[in-house]
Amino acid sequence: MNKTVKITVMTLGVFFMNTGTLAADGKVPDIANGAKVWADTCMRCHNLRAPSDLSSRAWVYSMNHMRVRAGLTGKETRDILAFILSSKTPEDKELR
Ligand code: HEC
Repeated sequence: MNKTVKITVMTLGVFFMNTGTLAADGKVPDIANGAKVWADTCMRCHNLRAPSDLSSRAWVYSMNHMRVRAGLTGKETRDILAFILSSKTPEDKELR
């Protein structure tokens, strides 16, 4: 797979992650690792935000923001995002 295709697949992966369609090339997010890195990292500077605090779309945006602040790798960012979005309740998802 060339670089452009890989980048496209990764970009699409971030956008489609909450529908669980990301399964290409070993890029399947590790939700358990996401939970661990979230607990270890995301309360260094502030209290943990509940998954229901932000819409799924706002989480994608915010994680790109916090990725820079927290100095996360791409994999850690994807894993945390997968953990957060998978923790949303169906009721919460319907509202947004
Ligand atoms: C290095 C410090 C730091 C770390 C680590 C950090 N944050 Fe933040 N976060 C901030 C600051 C400062 C703000 C206030 C908004 C701003 O950046 O202007 C913020 C704001 C937020 C917000 C509010 C919306 C937004 O984007 O501004 C959310 C949600 C959030 N953080 C989630 C997280 C998550 C999830 C993690 C773990 C991946 C994390 N943060 C790790 C410093 C940090």
